[in-house]
Amino acid sequence: MAHTREIAAVVANEADGDARLLRLSAPRIAAAARPFQFVLVKVPGGDFILRRPLSVFDARGDELALLVRPVGDGTARICCLVPGENLDLTGPFGQRFDVPADALFVAGGIGVAGVFFALAEGARSGRKVALLYGARVAAQLYARARLAELGVEAIFVTEDGSSGHKGLATEYLPGVPSVKDKLISAVLEEELPAYPKTVIACGPRPMYVVLHKILSEDARLYVLMEERMACGVGACRSCAVAAREPEGSYIAACEEGPLVDASLVDWNRLEGKV
Ligand SMILES: Cc1cc2nc3c(=O)[nH]c(=O)nc-3n(C[C@H](O)[C@H](O)[C@H](O)COP(=O)(O)OP(=O)(O)OC[C@H]3O[C@@H](n4cnc5c(N)ncnc54)[C@H](O)[C@@H]3O)c2cc1C
Ligand code: FES
Repeated sequence: MAHTREIAAVVANEADGDARLLRLSAPRIAAAARPFQFVLVKVPGGDFILRRPLSVFDARGDELALLVRPVGDGTARICCLVPGENLDLTGPFGQRFDVPADALFVAGGIGVAGVFFALAEGARSGRKVALLYGARVAAQLYARARLAELGVEAIFVTEDGSSGHKGLATEYLPGVPSVKDKLISAVLEEELPAYPKTVIACGPRPMYVVLHKILSEDARLYVLMEERMACGVGACRSCAVAAREPEGSYIAACEEGPLVDASLVDWNRLEGKV
């Protein structure tokens, strides 16, 4: 797949909790970008050798949006850009993926950046789209107003109960029964609601491990693997994800993903990396 280098002008930089939503004028990459793909961003004004991978949060017309949480020097500098400044991008990278109509999206914290474009495309085309969205605290539930504007059916969960349900998102997966539900349904001889058939998740690694464990075997789970990346094209192996088969093999998250079928991942080998 061809990648474009584009010098994008910053159109707006808006606060969203402790993250920033950057709206950029990047006509060529915006036209090519599809949900789940990412760009490699040159950190402005410094000695950063590696570009930083950031999901395409949204792309419409000439505009590309990135939702960035400052976790280190690179993302902090990107978050400080002001309208009129430029950002050097290459992309889009990663595979395209057709979202099945019955998919349930699950996001954790800044992971919403990886699934928002797919949610937005679904909602804009008139489809019903559902999101189970968890975070540590309410301020880390990003893009809430945008999700509401699109009419996304969202269930919010926070670990401290500051917004929505209290606990972990994985505890509120529709169709995954609690022990109590199981007992009651056994007593009443009632069928429990079906598990979702397709789950698409973006968030922290422990969330993927839990989803992989609790979903039934006939559900398909796809996870967005946010590994450390360098080349973006499958050459350097820095983003290698342990694969189940053949033994000892790896998936290049940048080239074959970043959205990866969880059944192809060797979770036992990966859990050591959680
Ligand atoms: C495909 C992909 C899409 C991504 N999309 C987004 C996005 O839309 N928004 C966003 O805010 N972030 C996203 N990330 C994570 C982002 O790339 C990293 O946070 C960033 O590269 C860190 O750079 P830094 O210089 O700020 O931090 P560094 O100084 O390099 O590291 C600071 C801290 O961040 C951790 N870190 C570094 N790289 C990653 C990584 N890839 N994933 C998780 N933690 C990391 C380090 O372990 C360290 O604790 C994405 C990553 C990938 C691979
Ligand atoms: S980032 Fe180089 S192989 Fe994936």
